[in-house]
Amino acid sequence: METTTSGPEETRSLGKCFGELALAGLVVLLNGDLGAGKTCFAQGVAMGLEVSAETPVTSPTYTLLNIHLGRLALYHFDLYRLSQVDDLADLGYDEFAEGEGLTLVEWADRMTDVLSASLSVSIERVDEDIRQFHFEAFDDRGREILDKMSRHCLS
Ligand SMILES: Nc1ncnc2c1ncn2[C@@H]1O[C@H](COP(=O)(O)OP(=O)(O)O)[C@@H](O)[C@H]1O
Ligand SMILES: [Mg+2]
Repeated sequence: METTTSGPEETRSLGKCFGELALAGLVVLLNGDLGAGKTCFAQGVAMGLEVSAETPVTSPTYTLLNIHLGRLALYHFDLYRLSQVDDLADLGYDEFAEGEGLTLVEWADRMTDVLSASLSVSIERVDEDIRQFHFEAFDDRGREILDKMSRHCLS
């Protein structure tokens, strides 16, 4: 599934719509270069999960993981600075990914081999404000969500 956004607000709206459809236990890989809009999309997802606006969603680049509580918990990972698979295990990644929250992994392609997910979101910078989104499902849950997204989230 493909779509484009023109500006950060549209990316947040797309993320919000996705967050509203998200089910407990979903794992989503989020890829794209620095400045592509991964965190911007994550901010929208948090809105869709009814995370309080008091705790702003920022890249967990140094902490590797931020947790936000909403309708579902949001486990927001950023693997940019992660060098070894062991470090991911030390963070307790598996327990989060197998938990009831929504796991969102920025820079997932650094660890693709060891991450199992229902879907991936890849963002490409086309122009200053234009971003191309490519959604790919890996299992039935992922396909179901993308099907709902294409009906509810794309204009
Ligand atoms: N269509 C768009 N979608 C998302 N971000 C955009 C868009 N157009 C411009 N931007 C800008 O690109 C930057 C994206 O930053 P961020 O979400 O932190 O990227 P990443 O987490 O992928 O490194 C922000 O400064 C944002 O304002
Ligand atoms: Mg980021």
